[in-house]
Amino acid sequence: MSEFNGKVVIITGSASGIGAATSLAYAKRGAQVIGIDLAPSTDTAAAIQKAGGKAEFVAGDVSDANTWQQTAKLAEAAGGADTLINVAGFSVLEDSIDTLTGELWQKIMNINLKGHWLGSQTLLPQMKRKGGGAIVNMSSATSLVGVPNHAAYSMAKGGVDALTRQMAVDLAKDNIRVNAVNPGPVRTPMVTTNTEEMMDQIVQAVPLKRMAEPEEVAEIMIFLSSNAASSITGVTLPIDGGLSMTM
Ligand SMILES: NC(=O)c1ccc[n+]([C@@H]2O[C@H](COP(=O)([O-])OP(=O)(O)OC[C@H]3O[C@@H](n4cnc5c(N)ncnc54)[C@H](O)[C@@H]3O)[C@@H](O)[C@H]2O)c1
Repeated sequence: MSEFNGKVVIITGSASGIGAATSLAYAKRGAQVIGIDLAPSTDTAAAIQKAGGKAEFVAGDVSDANTWQQTAKLAEAAGGADTLINVAGFSVLEDSIDTLTGELWQKIMNINLKGHWLGSQTLLPQMKRKGGGAIVNMSSATSLVGVPNHAAYSMAKGGVDALTRQMAVDLAKDNIRVNAVNPGPVRTPMVTTNTEEMMDQIVQAVPLKRMAEPEEVAEIMIFLSSNAASSITGVTLPIDGGLSMTM
């Protein structure tokens, strides 16, 4: 039986891409998944049901405290949060130092950074009451290397790395481990909505010459939240085919 059987796992960004793949991967291991997304998680719900898993969903914005209050109630009713996987994120090509507006900067910070902190803070009391837990934050290779048109996004992801280290240090006494993953290009709508030419350029820059699949990222997040990683906290782990190691 999986160690996640019956565990209450909250996953943001559950409607699409990495969040959807991660929700399904935990549900297949017997976790009670609570997914959060602005968009309807209809396809994820259907995939989990087909796999015989359990899931509930909250429709809401991760940067809004009301979303987290609603989530905390569901998690409490399920027995209390064990694991939080902060995945929801947002990027746009207008995000260059030249054209970035204050409004867009704030939106990118709210979704990619504030949401991670707010969700963690809201669910911490439940994890502490249960004697511990694990949090995995979604960062990006853009926190490690500069990428054109990702100004506020890179700043937000750099903040996620710092938040991860800070939380790891502050929460170790409560037996709560906090880690982050830093993917390079992953085959999700965030990337596949680019032109073929842009996708080619992206793949050529990766030493392994391919994008990661969302399921590969899900497996690493599951590892970091599992007993196999029981002495790992505060790491920011590239999943980028070597991208951040090259010139
Ligand atoms: N795809 C990549 O190449 C890549 C690389 C590095 C990091 N990431 C990160 O992975 C995460 C998931 O991205 P993805 O590639 O699966 O993209 P995606 O666009 O497929 O999924 C993102 C999901 O987040 C949801 N979302 C956006 N804003 C939200 C909000 N305010 N509240 C709740 N949900 C919200 C969207 O509705 C969507 O379902 C993001 O944090 C992204 O920055 C992606």
